[in-house]
Amino acid sequence: MTNSKFLENLIAGSCDKMQEVRQHIALAAPYPVNVLAIGPTGSGKELIAKGIHKLSARTGKFIAVNAAAIPAELLEAELFGYEKGAFTGADKSRKGKVEEAANGTLFLDEIGDMPFSLQAKLLRVLETKTVQKIGSEKSIPVDFRLVCATHTDIGELARQGKFRADLLYRIAVYTIENPPLAERTEDLEELMTVLSMRLKKTETKIKPATFDAEAMGFLRAYSWPGNIRELANFLQKCSVLFSGQTLSVEKIKPLMPNFETGEPSEVTQASLWDDPPVSSQAAERLTLSNGFDASNINNFSDYFSSNQPLNLRQFLSDIEEKLITSALQQSDGSVESAAQKLGLSSEDLLEKIKLYAVMNRSLGK
Ligand SMILES: Nc1ncnc2c1ncn2[C@@H]1O[C@H](COP(=O)(O)OP(=O)(O)O)[C@@H](O)[C@H]1O
Ligand SMILES: [Mg+2]
Repeated sequence: MTNSKFLENLIAGSCDKMQEVRQHIALAAPYPVNVLAIGPTGSGKELIAKGIHKLSARTGKFIAVNAAAIPAELLEAELFGYEKGAFTGADKSRKGKVEEAANGTLFLDEIGDMPFSLQAKLLRVLETKTVQKIGSEKSIPVDFRLVCATHTDIGELARQGKFRADLLYRIAVYTIENPPLAERTEDLEELMTVLSMRLKKTETKIKPATFDAEAMGFLRAYSWPGNIRELANFLQKCSVLFSGQTLSVEKIKPLMPNFETGEPSEVTQASLWDDPPVSSQAAERLTLSNGFDASNINNFSDYFSSNQPLNLRQFLSDIEEKLITSALQQSDGSVESAAQKLGLSSEDLLEKIKLYAVMNRSLGK
């Protein structure tokens, strides 16, 4: 497959802005420059990073780390690794993501949320091209391509002294801007086709729903604050409820309760939890990825009366993920005290946090 065909398959959209995005990826990929992808949440920044990795011909892995989803205390260990005994719970030594990305690409998502103290450590790694595990004096040489992403105005953060300017210069050698979906609604149908095809592959039991002309006009006028991710979730919800049907405005309006206000629907917000940090209220309410509010155990009878199919395994892991998030928030990110709250060892909790980060990635969330 040619590079441009590969990118068109990876990142759909024919509008001028998306053509430019693909051109920038193809231009920057072969050179060892650090790339910063900017754009609102759900607009496809991770896809830009994947495109760069693929076209860079680097033989190592693509390793993604979300600085906003991992508590500050854990992030350092996650990135740089640790030696046995470096802190309570470190029963064995472990490689960090930087080392795992050797000869490949490290994707640092939501870099704007990286704690200030850690920014200095990352800068050192970039300058020396070596990494030190926590609790170790040894410098390990690492060769990795860095792609960062942020939905915040990181230049403004730097002006306010909240983000290190010297690090910003290092990570933003080449900047690629991803437009919000609202600025490319001419691509809506094309995106829906691509997302429907993906849905067919992953959810073999449901047939993607389609929309009549009036409904399409309605969807084009919506602001899509959660961007392509919100569109994908919306399409999935429509297809679960109305498998294979062509939907009218009347059918879809109740599924978009916040159409007027432009706020993402609850379903979308719940599944966006790994992007912007979730409000603790949302986490405590236990709204699951299928939009069901599981905060009151008595609600479960409602669940079955709605005739929605239930995937028990997914449902329980949703609850586990929400409880872990809440426990970490209630413990100000301390893994040790969150583990106590959950009745787990720190080591087990670390494993679970990693597992969920991995699961979210593989689901393309
Ligand atoms: N142009 C696009 N074509 C196809 N799918 C897209 C496109 N942009 C985003 N997506 C999909 O939307 C979801 C969110 O994209 P992601 O790259 O994770 O966004 P961000 O990192 O900006 O929050 C993913 O499932 C991704 O595959
Ligand atoms: Mg993202």
